[in-house]
Amino acid sequence: MPDQSMIDQSLMSDELFQRFARLIYEVAGIQLSGQKKTLVMTRLQKRLRALNLERYEDYFQYIKEDNNEFVVMLNSITTNTTKFFREPHHFEFLQNRLLPHLIQHKQANRELRIWSAGCSTGEEPYTIAICLLEKLQSLAPVGYDRSDPYRGWDIKILASDLSTKVLNTAQEGIYKGEALREDLPEALLKRYFTPCGNDRYRVQDVAKQLIRFRRLNFKERSYPFKKPFDLIFCRNVMIYFDEAMKSHVLTKFHQHLAPHGHLFLGHSETMFGNKLFSPVHITVYRKQ
Ligand SMILES: C[S@@+](CC[C@H](N)C(=O)[O-])C[C@H]1O[C@@H](n2cnc3c(N)ncnc32)[C@H](O)[C@@H]1O
Repeated sequence: MPDQSMIDQSLMSDELFQRFARLIYEVAGIQLSGQKKTLVMTRLQKRLRALNLERYEDYFQYIKEDNNEFVVMLNSITTNTTKFFREPHHFEFLQNRLLPHLIQHKQANRELRIWSAGCSTGEEPYTIAICLLEKLQSLAPVGYDRSDPYRGWDIKILASDLSTKVLNTAQEGIYKGEALREDLPEALLKRYFTPCGNDRYRVQDVAKQLIRFRRLNFKERSYPFKKPFDLIFCRNVMIYFDEAMKSHVLTKFHQHLAPHGHLFLGHSETMFGNKLFSPVHITVYRKQ
């Protein structure tokens, strides 16, 4: 990435930056303050080069006329930082408190629906899948047929994001060994990943088969789900939204959560004054 301080600010006027920012806000609800101008320029520079365009103004016209490039522009603008077991206390709470409760209380239909909303490159939904599989195995009665890792449960994890680029990586499910060794206990690395050369590892089908990946923009007026979710993870996404957009998204999550379903937010995201949810753990909320 070029050194941001090297970018000539005059290549994008403040007025043009405001036009980009307005458009991105209208379409995706992402708020870009004036301080983000250099960052936006840096992120879009690659596209200008790829399209052989000299001016940001030309690129602005281009994205307005070409929907595919608009999607690519959004891919470039989003911040996609993530990792396996990010904010580990969430997964401890999931495994030790929520899953035992859900597994006990949903014995009748044995259905679990979970949404990783803003899943980025897949580390979050795969972490959830691994936690579920670990819990199901650990709670299996003595003598249970270990060849069925799902123990007869119908589990679906939806993993969605705005960016088609990160969704492709997530779907591929291949990660660098270096990062995995840092973020995952060795036993889990062995159990759920297969080496595929070049110090890379592929997520095994047992975890992958639980997840469906799809593009979804939180800005949409309605979300296309019929069945309610037991759990929604939307972590480190709403930091990019303003109050109006946050309120829209939280209302949608409330609508699509099962009664007493749980919502996980990121470490810096809180819900002061929101009456739809009540706190049950650090940045974990229950639907009211
Ligand atoms: C920082 S990542 C968070 C990844 C993961 N949830 C975590 O906490 O590690 C934020 C993700 O939100 C997605 N995002 C931003 N705006 C969005 C929108 N309007 N609709 C859907 N996803 C969006 C971005 O593409 C990005 O992948």
